[in-house]
Amino acid sequence: MMRHLLRDDDLTPQEQAEVLDLAAAVKAAPFSLRPLEGPQSVAMIFDKPTLRTQTSFAAGIAELGGHAMLVDGTLAGIGLRESIEDVARVLGGQARQVVWRTAGQERIEVMAEYAGVPVINALTDEFHPCQLLADLLTVRERFGRTAGLTAAFLGDGACNMGNSWLLAGATAGVHVRISSPDGYQPEQQYVDRAADIAASTGGSARVVVDPREAVAGADIVITDTWVSMGKEAEAAGRLADLARYSLTEGLFALASPDAIAMHCLPAYRGKEIAAAVLDGPRSVIWDEAENRRHAQKAVMAWLEARR
Ligand code: NVA
Repeated sequence: MMRHLLRDDDLTPQEQAEVLDLAAAVKAAPFSLRPLEGPQSVAMIFDKPTLRTQTSFAAGIAELGGHAMLVDGTLAGIGLRESIEDVARVLGGQARQVVWRTAGQERIEVMAEYAGVPVINALTDEFHPCQLLADLLTVRERFGRTAGLTAAFLGDGACNMGNSWLLAGATAGVHVRISSPDGYQPEQQYVDRAADIAASTGGSARVVVDPREAVAGADIVITDTWVSMGKEAEAAGRLADLARYSLTEGLFALASPDAIAMHCLPAYRGKEIAAAVLDGPRSVIWDEAENRRHAQKAVMAWLEARR
């Protein structure tokens, strides 16, 4: 049956492990998978800014033997000039897979329903599953495993990265602590879903309001911008509300001595994370960025093998 990657829990724990194994293998041998030989095209559409996602998909698609077809989201006017259903049917007739960065999750769900080809979420307001696969690959490289580790996510826990850490982290058997104040906590449905998944993987999922308590003893400390794409008008309030959650050297010192600091980028030094942490010896941010390509190649190859 044809599959998509629309949210992190589209992959079962076993499937997530398969994709991560494949990502490690293709990282070691970059041209060993050629499912897009032809070259066959993969459509990439960005309705929001991008650097890592566009470049890592373009490079990864080429390494899989394919062609990255960049579709300008503003020219296409998806849902404005044409319905998502119509765009989906057209793209499905041109491309082998569709990669889309957009706002509402419901938009990509419609794309997947009508495209007739695998659809990959390259970030929505709700989830960022490709980033989580890159992050979990990075965690595996550092710790040799994911299960049983503790991850603390600080700041805007209601953003895509907070939700994705809940779902993908729980799937990987991680103990996920989301540390955010009132108004920035993930919707209860995502905490509950993560707890459900964690019941079978040995992980756990909870909101820990106090950042010091959340970071204490953690193996992985993650943060993300306080002003996600689309939230720019709220910037001043967000910076004030989240100031206590800044990942400073003092806060990071409460984590395990072997802890790593993670950030999906773009980062704002001195705001959600201190420069000394982001640029410090225990930061793995450049590995995360590189691993986007390897993880996404694995996703595309895995989806091709299931259609
Ligand atoms: N939460 C951020 C992630 C950027 C990759 C945003 O949505 O802007």
